[in-house]
Amino acid sequence: MFNETIRPRRLRTSDCLRRMVRETRISPDSLIWPIFVREGTDIYEEIPSLPGQYHYSPDQLYRMIERARAHGVSRVILFGLPAHKDECGSGAWAADGIVQQGIRKIKELAPEMYVITDVCMCEYTSHGHCGILCGHDVDNDKTLEVLCKTALSHAQAGADMVAPSDMMDGRVARIREILDANGFQNVPVMSYAAKYASYFYGPFRDAAGSAPSFGDRRSYQMDWHNAREAMRECELDVQEGADILMVKPALSYLDLIHEARRRFDLPIAAYSVSGEYAMIKAAAKAGLIDEHGVMCESAVSIFRAGADILITYYACELADAIRKGEIG
Ligand code: PBG
Repeated sequence: MFNETIRPRRLRTSDCLRRMVRETRISPDSLIWPIFVREGTDIYEEIPSLPGQYHYSPDQLYRMIERARAHGVSRVILFGLPAHKDECGSGAWAADGIVQQGIRKIKELAPEMYVITDVCMCEYTSHGHCGILCGHDVDNDKTLEVLCKTALSHAQAGADMVAPSDMMDGRVARIREILDANGFQNVPVMSYAAKYASYFYGPFRDAAGSAPSFGDRRSYQMDWHNAREAMRECELDVQEGADILMVKPALSYLDLIHEARRRFDLPIAAYSVSGEYAMIKAAAKAGLIDEHGVMCESAVSIFRAGADILITYYACELADAIRKGEIG
């Protein structure tokens, strides 16, 4: 029965009113922009699998800083492409490794920039897996040792926050311990707590040269049939001392973002990954969707689901949309 006094459309009658009753508020302060730093000089190359995103050698990072500043983005997460890889990924923790160089360069040029680092081995190992191999599988406890060295070397190079993305058991506790033992009590750990073995990472692996040379990552990243297991991963990371919990990918995992927000009091981050970005780009290029609109709608949906923080290749464009009042 239609009760004629109750009309939800009343609150949709003008832009002014619609903006007043928005339930989801977003700020550019909640955005983190992923950056790929590649060993060498004079490298400023668009990444074919991620149109609009670039490989920067350290000497070219000023371009990233200019762009970030122009859009009011002041938080980045760094990924490294080393010149050489080896079996154990020693480039990951080298004092003059590519991420370490990148951190120093950014801090020198833009001390206000908040620099987070991805802590993982897959970009540095010759086999492309996220840790030390034992036979054809990744050895959890041996990998913890190299992850700790890597996180510590990032902090020593000046990283503001470290983000382990390897999915080894116990890494948050071990990284927390080594940071604390070396005077980095105030460097937070943003844990990729619920990270799935996702097909949506395809374009990233092209961009970072980090595809596994054999097999896949299903023995360490999560099976996307599972949701309760993600809550268990989050719970363990809380106990181990994580400061921020991340769900990754984002769009196909909104249920987990929602549930993590409901269950845990830590800030929840979501990573809208390379495949999500590349799909929007490709569909827009084919004339099928409005890129700006779909970018805005997807980002808002991630915040609406409960994310406090969004890691996104669209950070600059979203910051503009927020400032213009189009979203948030
Ligand atoms: C490193 C890492 C990956 C991503 C972030 N950190 C790739 C992977 O796990 O294979 C993916 C990010 C993206 O797709 O945008 N382990």
